[in-house]
Amino acid sequence: MERPTVLTGIKPTGHPHLGNYIGAIKPALEMAEDNRSQGIYFIADYHALNSVQDRQEFKEYTYEIAAAWLALGLDPDKVIFYRQSDVPEILELHWILSCMTPKGLMNRAHAYKAKVEENNLEGNDQDSGVNMGLFTYPILMASDILLFNSDQVPVGKDQVQHVEIARDIAENFNRTFGEVLKLPQYVIEEETAVIPGLDGRKMSKSYGNTIPLFTEEKALKKLINKIVTDSTPPEEPKEVKGSSLFTLYKEFAAEDEIESMREKYRKGIGWGQVKKEVFEVINRELREPRRKYYEYLEDTKALDEVLKRGAQEARSIAAVQLRKVKEMIGC
Ligand code: ADP
Ligand code: TRP
Repeated sequence: MERPTVLTGIKPTGHPHLGNYIGAIKPALEMAEDNRSQGIYFIADYHALNSVQDRQEFKEYTYEIAAAWLALGLDPDKVIFYRQSDVPEILELHWILSCMTPKGLMNRAHAYKAKVEENNLEGNDQDSGVNMGLFTYPILMASDILLFNSDQVPVGKDQVQHVEIARDIAENFNRTFGEVLKLPQYVIEEETAVIPGLDGRKMSKSYGNTIPLFTEEKALKKLINKIVTDSTPPEEPKEVKGSSLFTLYKEFAAEDEIESMREKYRKGIGWGQVKKEVFEVINRELREPRRKYYEYLEDTKALDEVLKRGAQEARSIAAVQLRKVKEMIGC
């Protein structure tokens, strides 16, 4: 049987953070382990363009995401790894799919809907601050996914709707023109679907509550100390469920460490001590990737080369699928 294709993208809109790693990068890398699947991982820079419109920032964030994937273990000889804007076929499919996507479907997409609600609350025009890139964002994402016959798309919870939209668009196309587009499945790990940030809400660049993945040791310690906890006294038993600190700990610690932490929660442990241990495991696991990350960022030429090579591979797959699609519609 053919290996399933696993595809995911991260948009370069800020410094990569722990939520991105745990929710997207780590599961994606695990899925590509042992060549169990064909991994196709990319930097969704055109997705970032609707919000990042500063040349320098755009470049820097793109390199940061690329360096992050590589530092965390992506092997470009095993996984197809590229920058979205280097694969123009995606945009060609984007137009084709746009012509078949009902506008109403986009009206219901959550990022746009949230913006409209915000505008309504503030008494602005409902589309104030909305560009067409934000509005049609899910169609570009559908193109990313459908162009590569993706079977599985590992994402965080907030992206589930977008994968469902990609399925809707594919079904619609197939119904009209015949079966060419494969319906993708999203993959989310329930437990890590939402990694909490410093304030307990979802860790997100848009909330300014993130712990950047490669922040220096001292800053990392400081940030972990800022994670909100309740006022239960140290000796009182604590729930691991719903504890931001435990959620983070679990992602970096070994099995026996997790068990022992569970036990400490049951018996009672001070939050200060938990924070110290959380810092220690995170720092231990990220020390080497951090070193590599800064090394990659020093050599952006090498990053460009890796990405260009990946784009060539991606384009050769994309071209075949695009040809099929165009044939079906009569081009
Ligand atoms: P942000 O919300 O910080 O802008 P992105 O939207 O760029 O993050 O997310 C990139 C990837 O990381 C997506 O697959 C997203 O679902 C995942 N992700 C982001 N934040 C979290 C989080 N707090 N918990 C789990 N996954 C997350
Ligand atoms: N929209 C995703 C996000 O905001 C990034 C993304 C773009 C993506 N294209 C994709 C994720 C295709 C999975 C598959 O995080």
